[in-house]
Amino acid sequence: MVPCRRSPRSSNPAFCGKATSSDVRSGSPAYGENSDLEQANIMNISDSTIIITGAARGLGAAVARHLGSAGAKLALIDLTADSLDATLSACRNIGADARAYACNVADESAVEQTFAAVVDDFGSFNGLVNNAGILRDGMLVKAKDGEIASRLSLADWQAVIDVNLTGVFLCGREAATGMVRLGSPGWIVNMSSISRAGNFGQSNYSAAKAGVAALTSVWAKELARHSIRVNAIAPGFVKTEMVASMKPEALARMAAGIPAGRLCTPEEIAHACAYLIENDYMNGRVIEIDGGLRL
Ligand SMILES: NC(=O)c1ccc[n+]([C@@H]2O[C@H](COP(=O)([O-])OP(=O)(O)OC[C@H]3O[C@@H](n4cnc5c(N)ncnc54)[C@H](O)[C@@H]3O)[C@@H](O)[C@H]2O)c1
Repeated sequence: MVPCRRSPRSSNPAFCGKATSSDVRSGSPAYGENSDLEQANIMNISDSTIIITGAARGLGAAVARHLGSAGAKLALIDLTADSLDATLSACRNIGADARAYACNVADESAVEQTFAAVVDDFGSFNGLVNNAGILRDGMLVKAKDGEIASRLSLADWQAVIDVNLTGVFLCGREAATGMVRLGSPGWIVNMSSISRAGNFGQSNYSAAKAGVAALTSVWAKELARHSIRVNAIAPGFVKTEMVASMKPEALARMAAGIPAGRLCTPEEIAHACAYLIENDYMNGRVIEIDGGLRL
């Protein structure tokens, strides 16, 4: 069962206070007639079991610490178990029940085995932060004086699509499968990006992140009947190793255009993630946390 602070109206734990069609038919009070309607239905993070991909560093690690400090049990996924040591100990130091799983999110059988291992270890799970991602930036075609200098390679295109889009699909499908099988309603938060609008030098990344936004909308529609909500975060530029790997001149140019005058912190993204988890009426939306930057 999903931990949930339910409205007094709801007697069905699976629905966390959501109105059903029979509520409507039986004539639930109109707006303003019942203080019940003024209550927010809040999903409890505490005691939820949450799977986080790409948890070894950056946003995944910050989300793990934030949700761990709110009482969540954590299944932390990254390419290698060793790389998760720092996040694992940070989470355990704040009292969270956390375990590490080595898994390439782009590998179908590895994803299936890892999610099965999480169920074996924790009994069930309530949420997925679908966060693992990579960059392989490059212009589609780079030319000087009419001569082609370079082209975005198929390998760089495919690598980003494999992890940032197929990986999100595989983990999302496995999470939904598990939650439906276990009768364990919950949520998925996908990590998109403001680059989904189309960013210079990022054909592969922008296409993948636009795909992630589309998956968020499709899954929200398809999975609502199973009481699974799906949302996404589209960060701007966040202070992580991924951004540090950008060319300094490109990063400086980008940072100069941020109305907030600074990069986002990983903790600000973690805070937005907790909001998406907690608010039971958020579904199918991509929220931008970008300091006002538009690409
Ligand atoms: N940092 C930003 O400014 C920013 C902006 C927009 C979106 N994002 C997105 O947020 C997510 C996290 O970004 P970050 O900045 O923390 O990146 P990061 O590079 O610091 O961390 C990404 C993590 O994902 C892991 N990972 C990569 N490929 C994997 C795979 N195949 N299987 C499992 N794990 C894998 C890496 O090992 C790493 O620990 C990514 O999806 C990224 O595209 C980041």
